[in-house]
Amino acid sequence: MRVVIQENYDKMCKWAADYIAGKINAHKEDRPFVLGLPTGSSPLGVYAELARMNKAGEVTFKNVVTFNMDEYLGLPRDHEQSYWYFMWSNFFDHIDIPKENVNILNGMAEDPEAECARYEAKIASYGGIDLFLGGIGADGHLAFNEPFTSLTSRTGVRDLTTDTLIANSRFFDNDPTKVPTQALSVGVGTVTDSKEVLILINGHHKARALAASVEGGVSQKWTCSALQLHQAAIIACDEAACGELTVDTYKYFLDIEKKERL
Ligand code: GLP
Repeated sequence: MRVVIQENYDKMCKWAADYIAGKINAHKEDRPFVLGLPTGSSPLGVYAELARMNKAGEVTFKNVVTFNMDEYLGLPRDHEQSYWYFMWSNFFDHIDIPKENVNILNGMAEDPEAECARYEAKIASYGGIDLFLGGIGADGHLAFNEPFTSLTSRTGVRDLTTDTLIANSRFFDNDPTKVPTQALSVGVGTVTDSKEVLILINGHHKARALAASVEGGVSQKWTCSALQLHQAAIIACDEAACGELTVDTYKYFLDIEKKERL
């Protein structure tokens, strides 16, 4: 696992955007580049930077297919807090991606489990995901895979914990009872099956989750710790999120990521 420590949130986002654009630009095959994407506040700076790069002609999304991580169950697309709405207003409306290349789980599906199975099959039809960008919750949840979700889970319906309802209530008038209690989400296994995984972790409130992801054992209590079993996982983080790492771990990653070494 690589842990790329950046001084602050903006630099973390710049690093991640450059990394993603670099991968898209290096993709020379006819088949599309398949990119997994998250919602949340963590990726906002990455989306803004990628949109800027797209406008500047530094990267194009014409041959990119995207799959989003999750969606609330029961929220229609045009609801301002649906992840569909979030993704279009914060990213897709600002880049040159063809509409038909965007995949987001349908939170209004009549048969949610069938919708999840369809989604997994569609990912497989592209030969899997090349790069999955993600964020995590303060309790380490990856997509909506709350603590104790199987580390081999696939896309399915998830119950949200009270902690997550409270955390996400900031988007629902600060009222946890207004937050949908269930969501459709890719599984931990869906994410770790990707060729590469890049997870953004920023802010003091994510410090325990970062330490658990990097230094703790692989445990279903911290679903993000499944990244330790991945061959090409990167965590991009800011200084603020490093507060719970041991000094040794912190120094180790700064050293190994340094360009000029002995
Ligand atoms: C939600 C999403 C996750 C996201 C998490 C963190 O729970 N389902 O995919 O990673 O929020 O959000 P933020 O980046 O706002 O901290």
